[in-house]
Amino acid sequence: MLLIKDIKKLAGIILKPHSFKKGEALDVLDSIDHAYLTVEDGKISGYGPMSECPTQADEVISAKGQMVLPSWCDSHTHIVYAASREAEFVARVKGKSYEEIANEGGGILNSARRLQATSFDDLYLDASKRLEEVISYGTGAIEIKSGYGLTVDSEIKMLRVIQKLKENYPITIKSTFLGAHAIPQEYKENRQGYIDLIINEMLPIVAKENLADYCDVFCDKGFYTVEETDQILKAAAKYGLKAKIHANELGITGGVQIGIANNALSVDHLECIDTEEIEALLNSNTTPTLLPSTSFFLNIPYGPARRMIDAGLGITIATDYNPGSTPSGNVPFLLSLACLKLKMTPQEAINAITINGAYAMELENTHGSITVGKEANIIFTDPISSIDFIPYAFGSNVIDKVMLKGKIYPS
Ligand code: NIG
Ligand code: FE
Repeated sequence: MLLIKDIKKLAGIILKPHSFKKGEALDVLDSIDHAYLTVEDGKISGYGPMSECPTQADEVISAKGQMVLPSWCDSHTHIVYAASREAEFVARVKGKSYEEIANEGGGILNSARRLQATSFDDLYLDASKRLEEVISYGTGAIEIKSGYGLTVDSEIKMLRVIQKLKENYPITIKSTFLGAHAIPQEYKENRQGYIDLIINEMLPIVAKENLADYCDVFCDKGFYTVEETDQILKAAAKYGLKAKIHANELGITGGVQIGIANNALSVDHLECIDTEEIEALLNSNTTPTLLPSTSFFLNIPYGPARRMIDAGLGITIATDYNPGSTPSGNVPFLLSLACLKLKMTPQEAINAITINGAYAMELENTHGSITVGKEANIIFTDPISSIDFIPYAFGSNVIDKVMLKGKIYPS
């Protein structure tokens, strides 16, 4: 048994398995001061106040002055990509919009051209570096999407990269097929032709090789329509792939409703949202996911988190790490944005990226909280004065070390 002792504060405790935290409950982050935690077979086997600390252990780690939390569960990323896009960043700084750049063949189509010309090995190497980087920020479970391939071969290549990451790293990974991320240039006049390719050629291979857990569609202004999204999600459901979709980043086009109608696990972005959609979400099991780093980087409005939480919704936050709209997987910085820009409390923000992030990847029974029996995926902070210090000290790295499946990573 491994014993972690003298923890200044053990936070993110949940007694019983939980689905996701909503409304007022989102602000409750249970903790114990001066605590211990034990780990057996890679799982949390016990915890409590130091006054009840076991006296015998095979290995002891001192966490004096440190806070211990469940690892972040980042439920929306695109970390497999071929090249950075800082030229587009500079074009935006000089006044071009994200949509203008996309309409000129930049954006996702730019990334697709680069990815199609990049080997599996190079893609794997670059994605590994990004994965190791986000683990160092405290991420212990992550969802990764395809969507920069946009051809049968390249979409499958991306998903195989994700599969190899799953095999080689101790972090928990969920994989999402996002063939419907953009319409390739050669299908601009034949949209249905590309959708048929997704449905008749890509999805059968994805399913046969078990390459994805979920199916995503970029349902938004200038991208996929509600009808097209519905068609793709229904085809994916036939193969057992649940929906997790991009909606309402660039406009209100009905993506939230079509996500809910297809039992989506989450609808993500929601920089634009109205009362009707908040109502629809309240009557569903779909978790709304906000991506404040995207709003920060694209200079677009932030999702109205306060209005949504006060209406009783459960919010998930995620990084959206990708080369175009969010070249960062830094969750501590995401927490600062959630507090400052979404007006969430540090406790709400931490729940939104732990237990709620776990729910958005169907991992709520194994990840996202300090609960006996869950994976020992945990974060040790530097010696800090309070949990609130994490979002307060924006840009600082307050993570001392991380544990994945009961082992300090890297060992
Ligand atoms: O989630 N919005 C759609 N897809 C990604 C960005 C894609 C890109 O610009 O490369 C996102 O923001
Ligand atoms: Fe995204």
